[in-house]
Amino acid sequence: MDTPGPIVSLKSVSKVFPSRGVAVHKGLDNVSLKVEKGEVVVLLGPSGSGKSTLLRCVNLLNIPNEGTVQVGNVTWQASAGRNGDRPQARTLLSLRRQVGMVFQHFNLFPHLTARENVMCGLVHSQGMAKDQAGAIAEAELARVGLADKVDNYPSQLSGGQKQRVAIARAIATKPIAMLFDEPTSALDPELRGSVLSVMQDLAAEGMTMIVVTHELGFARSVGNRIIFMDQGRAIEDGDAREFLDNPKTDRARKFLSEIN
Ligand SMILES: Nc1ncnc2c1ncn2[C@@H]1O[C@H](COP(=O)(O)OP(=O)(O)O)[C@@H](O)[C@H]1O
Ligand SMILES: [Mg+2]
Repeated sequence: MDTPGPIVSLKSVSKVFPSRGVAVHKGLDNVSLKVEKGEVVVLLGPSGSGKSTLLRCVNLLNIPNEGTVQVGNVTWQASAGRNGDRPQARTLLSLRRQVGMVFQHFNLFPHLTARENVMCGLVHSQGMAKDQAGAIAEAELARVGLADKVDNYPSQLSGGQKQRVAIARAIATKPIAMLFDEPTSALDPELRGSVLSVMQDLAAEGMTMIVVTHELGFARSVGNRIIFMDQGRAIEDGDAREFLDNPKTDRARKFLSEIN
């Protein structure tokens, strides 16, 4: 789908989590960003800095307390001063339909085969006929290098293969943007490459992506932009290589020296 303007934008988005009943803890603090078509934006930052919350605000898995979220042609704005406003179901559905998300722990259905896992969004959310969904599932699994695993259950797949099924499932619904939350963090080092290379292919095909990862090699070679998060804020936002070679803030410098 072609929409003018950014594919994803957040304007002054904040998310407060109740802490012992009092809403004080800012998971996300006044974050604004725009992601243009085909851009790969990498989110870096220490644990607890708000990276997952940011991703989850993009597809409204977390409902921001303040600000505006836009994905494609759907815009949702938090009402000022009102806590935990729920978007209408229709808004949620049309926004979420446009984004695919991949999690650290795959979230596959254990009782379904790879093919059935990829089919389920097509059949249940989009109402597609099973034959057609099955054919799309096989094509998407082939695209991530799993043509010979379509009948395997998750327990019969390696971690890297499971994550590629999760990616195939997310892209099968033809999202305009993909969100990845530490997609390789649960994998043994030797299994990470296969997942990163599928992500690299997706980026090369022009997919718009927001990726939380500690893989600095991927950030450098595939990322266009890096946003560095600290305490719920986006404190640096710029060219990926420039950031990696020459971070501007002490916090980012310290972070990079610790994970390198
Ligand atoms: N559902 C939640 N309830 C309460 N606090 C949360 C919840 N989700 C995240 N937080 C808090 O918000 C902050 C940001 O978390 P998160 O976005 O998960 O960080 P990151 O992904 O960078 O590690 C952390 O302090 C975390 O404890
Ligand atoms: Mg996280």
